[in-house]
Amino acid sequence: MDKLIIRGDRKLSGEVLISGSKNSALPIMAATLLTEERCVITNVPSLSDVHTMIKLLESLGKKIIFEQGRLIIDTVDSKKHVAHYKLVRTMRASFCVLGPLLGRLGKAKVSLPGGCVIGVRPVDLHIKGFMALGAKIKIKQGYCYAEADTLHGGEIFLGGAFGSSVLATGNVMMAAVLAKDRTIIDFAACEPEVVDLAECLNKMGAKITGAGTPRITIDPVKKLKGFTHNVIYDRIEAGTFLAFGIMTRSNITIKNVSPNHLLAVLDLFKTMNQEISSSKDSIKIKKIRNINPVDISTLPFPGFPTDLQAQFMALLCLAKGISVVTEKVYPDRFMHVPELNRMGAHIIRNGEIAIIKGNRVLQGAEVMASDLRASAALVGAGLSAKGKTTIHRIYHLDRGYDKIDMKLKKLGADVERKK
Ligand code: EPU
Repeated sequence: MDKLIIRGDRKLSGEVLISGSKNSALPIMAATLLTEERCVITNVPSLSDVHTMIKLLESLGKKIIFEQGRLIIDTVDSKKHVAHYKLVRTMRASFCVLGPLLGRLGKAKVSLPGGCVIGVRPVDLHIKGFMALGAKIKIKQGYCYAEADTLHGGEIFLGGAFGSSVLATGNVMMAAVLAKDRTIIDFAACEPEVVDLAECLNKMGAKITGAGTPRITIDPVKKLKGFTHNVIYDRIEAGTFLAFGIMTRSNITIKNVSPNHLLAVLDLFKTMNQEISSSKDSIKIKKIRNINPVDISTLPFPGFPTDLQAQFMALLCLAKGISVVTEKVYPDRFMHVPELNRMGAHIIRNGEIAIIKGNRVLQGAEVMASDLRASAALVGAGLSAKGKTTIHRIYHLDRGYDKIDMKLKKLGADVERKK
């Protein structure tokens, strides 16, 4: 298992190139199950989650070449419909193969993904959506069996106790594209990754309108074809590097980014008293001042993303006062709190709320990465801390950040990956 050693308290400088979005690439890869024709996906980040999805698609009859960010996906067996536990359990996005398999073959058997360190993460909304389209669903021995002679389409309200669901919206959208009649998804997730998936499905011949709004309409088509699609850039990686920049008081520039996908984050930086400028595809940290404390609530897009909560909590340890972070999407996503406290932070958690006492000087320490974004928070803390930080179990980081150590080194950070 690799660990990351960071010698902190150094300024960074220069530009960082953001990679393609993991959360866009994974459902788009699953969408290739809707056709037997060749599909080409570009700007795909080289991450362990992408490699897991490759293995899963291969087990479902695809032949895949992955070279320099380009996936070429062909079909060798179009009848396979079983996604096994050993591939689904490591990554929840695997459940997204259910929609396209059900849509094209009329049947699928997909392992239930199970729990996860950031919370319970059920799949009831996915199932509710498939049933509303006309599928029969059975849960047996940890697997979800879905079957339908024809999916008839329909109007589906896809809101849950925690708002909309990104992957449920994508999964149901993929099942509905080949349904007999029109489907309308109400309370659809509005995330840019849903829009990217819808654009890709439309290239395949689907008729989807309204993606990016809470009401998506899907008109029926008979067959879908192959496509070439360039995945959008990763807004969460971009936000993470911006947090690193402010934490290390560094005027870095983030390239390959859509500022429109980060409006909540850019607005928050203003409240924090930081001067940031953005152009069409880059964001620059212009002037770093004392960091004002802020109150953040994580929310579905266009609100502040839960996937940046941990990184910003590390940043708020350096603010000049007390901040409050409320986690509205995953109320248990606080694994980073005890580790940050070991580095000298002063964070008190009470349910879905964390109170962060600022004005801290973080100290290097040995810490444990627990999930993807918690690991990124520890990297930020390590970069700003005095002394040496060793982050164990960084395979979590490799699930979502393409060559993060190389990118940090290029910015001048003292970072070393060790076995
Ligand atoms: N939820 C339900 N029932 C469902 C599905 C979701 O109650 O059937 C709840 C969840 O438990 C959560 C909320 O709805 O409280 C939102 O979850 P959502 O379904 O939107 O999450 P997801 O689609 O499973 C994607 C990303 C996550 C990201 C969330 C929220 C992928 C592969 N994953 O997950 O990314 O946090 O949307 O934006 O797209 C990450 O990259 O670190 C990550 C966890």
